[in-house]
Amino acid sequence: MDDSTVVMVGTLRPELVARLEREYAARELGQLAAEEAARARVAVTSGVWGVRAEHLDRLPALEAIVNFGVGYDATDVAEAARRGVVVSNTPDVLTDCVADAAVGLVIDVMRGLSAADRFVRRGEWASGRTPALARRVSGSRVGIVGLGRIGLAIARRLEGFGTTISYHNRRARTDVSYAHVRDVETLARDSDVLVLAAAGGDGSRHLVDAAVLDALGPRGFLVNVARGSVVDEDALVAALEAGRIAGAGLDVFAAEPHVPSALLGRDDVVLLPHLGSATVETRQAMADLTLANVAAYLDEGRLLTPVG
Ligand code: DGY
Repeated sequence: MDDSTVVMVGTLRPELVARLEREYAARELGQLAAEEAARARVAVTSGVWGVRAEHLDRLPALEAIVNFGVGYDATDVAEAARRGVVVSNTPDVLTDCVADAAVGLVIDVMRGLSAADRFVRRGEWASGRTPALARRVSGSRVGIVGLGRIGLAIARRLEGFGTTISYHNRRARTDVSYAHVRDVETLARDSDVLVLAAAGGDGSRHLVDAAVLDALGPRGFLVNVARGSVVDEDALVAALEAGRIAGAGLDVFAAEPHVPSALLGRDDVVLLPHLGSATVETRQAMADLTLANVAAYLDEGRLLTPVG
């Protein structure tokens, strides 16, 4: 195999890089001379980096983009399709871990667990103070924006807490009994916690804006394990600062790894470094599926988990 057949675009996990180097002599796009890049057939990227038009311009022979991660909104899929380039992602293998993290955020932000941990570490408990009372998770009303694989896994978990689940999708699902709500603002108004699990990209950009946050209201919490772009982050900061929502649990941000400085000192937010799928088991499974897609494409001319 030509040593420029597989190219890596952006920063990938070291174990995946090692396997791509070992099995395909893959190299990073930035390290390739123009004529080497011009021979690449498969690009491996991550959901955070993506392959955009400027990369595609350097890769005229590209046939497939293999994305490490379920979200592929950082890749210009429309431009790839226009050039006849197929795209795959890593669905299913991370569903459970992202859903686990979402439930963790729901419990953490509603019960104030991380804030209470800081309270203990600061010695406030030892000095006789008690933290403010939190909010009850069990029996609460949960609104899920994006009832796909991950949204459904979150719903199933939270059912175990006796919650009432409603959801917003563009189209209602026929295989669930949860109430479908046509617009996000109404869903927010009727929820104690709004959990975002929608795909990123232009279709969901700023789906949660000031109006939705106001509908969620001063007793409502926002949890986001989807993409930072789904939320108008300035509006979120303003809503938190004004006490117009109760709190937020965030695993994703608009310009990662940047987190708005206004959030850093707040106890009503839980801030995570986009770790939804970050377990040993799941990252291994994602790397395995990524490599299986590369192999299937090069051996059989097909992707195992194509998008769209
Ligand atoms: C993905 O794979 O897109 C998720 O963001 C992982 O956390």
